[in-house]
Amino acid sequence: MPDQGSIGVAVIGGGMAGRAHAAAYRTASTLFGLDRPAVRLVAVADVNRALAEDAARRYGYRRAEAGWEAVATAPDVDAVSVAAANQLHREIVEGLLAAGKHVLCEKPLAATYADAQAMTEAAEASRLVTGVGYTYRRSPAISAIRELLAAGELGEIIQFSGRYWEDYALDPATPLTWRYQGGTGSGALADLGSHLTDIAEQLCGPMVEVSGAMVRTVLTSRPVPAGATVGHDPAEVTGQTGPVQNGPVQNEDAAVFTSRFGGGAVGTFSVSRVAHGQPDGLGFEVFGTTGSAAFDLHRMGEFSISTTGLGRAVNGPRRVIVGPEHPYVRQGLPMVAAGVGYGTGDMFGYQARAFLDQIGGIPGLPPCADFRTGLHGIAVLDAIVASARSGGAAVPVG
Ligand SMILES: NC(=O)c1ccc[n+]([C@@H]2O[C@H](COP(=O)([O-])OP(=O)(O)OC[C@H]3O[C@@H](n4cnc5c(N)ncnc54)[C@H](O)[C@@H]3O)[C@@H](O)[C@H]2O)c1
Repeated sequence: MPDQGSIGVAVIGGGMAGRAHAAAYRTASTLFGLDRPAVRLVAVADVNRALAEDAARRYGYRRAEAGWEAVATAPDVDAVSVAAANQLHREIVEGLLAAGKHVLCEKPLAATYADAQAMTEAAEASRLVTGVGYTYRRSPAISAIRELLAAGELGEIIQFSGRYWEDYALDPATPLTWRYQGGTGSGALADLGSHLTDIAEQLCGPMVEVSGAMVRTVLTSRPVPAGATVGHDPAEVTGQTGPVQNGPVQNEDAAVFTSRFGGGAVGTFSVSRVAHGQPDGLGFEVFGTTGSAAFDLHRMGEFSISTTGLGRAVNGPRRVIVGPEHPYVRQGLPMVAAGVGYGTGDMFGYQARAFLDQIGGIPGLPPCADFRTGLHGIAVLDAIVASARSGGAAVPVG
């Protein structure tokens, strides 16, 4: 059997996160050693068939399916990412586990504690591999800070201050999707706070107490979408508006709270989906007795650190460019060299697309530089060398 020993993967949901999962399984086989089982890209499922087909074709999956049930019953699927609305996680995950599939479920695990508990019991009763998609655990910078803290390099942890601010809900025209339904806790807290609290616990250990929480809903009704929606994208609307709630209290746009960690550290948190000018504003500072570290998602490939090692005169925070020795960098990025960080691989992707489009005669992207431009580049270099050799004289290019 040709597929023996390989892992067949599928993704439920062809929306914002589903596409990221679909792309990720494609990339996974390029990361770390080549001694792993091969990955078979089997199916993307979405009740919005067009989305499933788009993602399947885009990322090289064998087929598109119209719902998670077809994935559950597919004998060629071993492992499934669930990237549907939080309210659907329980039904889908329980169905997949019952069918014997390994499951990576998006965060937050479920829309309610009761659902998450039932899913956890089902997962633990199975012999299957299950996981929650806390993506920021894979940030090389955040994991490097975690390793520093765990090794005691910053001393005993005193305090954490974190924020996850986005602005996707600030526009009153943003349609009423599943994100706005479910009562307090299911809004910005579930969407963004779930990432932030996981990061804080990764760094500081488990939280034992929260206090001082306040929530705010700014927009209490939103336009009802006429059809399918994707992530935070604008969508066609019906002309009617609907309430931002499904339970007794409204689904929050913003929240603040404080926490106490088991190890004694204290934390302050701020989350928002209506933070003007912050499309993806995740960041934090963590302070220990002998050092501190800070991270800002806008500068994903770096973090700053302060330690007592350099002495008081030069003891300001220093910027660390992550890698190239960090394992996610060393064995992950296709181009491994000091200082080559995140985004470099993406540039190669855009370049390949532009080159292929030129071959296919497809307009849109700026073409690759032609050889004559490359020739000019060599002439510039030659002129520089000639200038240097002549003691700095002016040398014409070409
Ligand atoms: N880790 C991250 O950084 C991250 C980022 C965005 C979203 N998420 C999480 O991913 C999940 C999905 O969010 P999203 O923004 O992609 O939502 P989305 O609305 O863009 O996509 C969800 C998709 O699920 C589909 N769907 C609904 N019922 C289905 C069914 N029965 N079978 C198959 N597909 C079905 C919908 O048609 C929709 O296309 C949420 O849990 C969210 O919290 C995580």
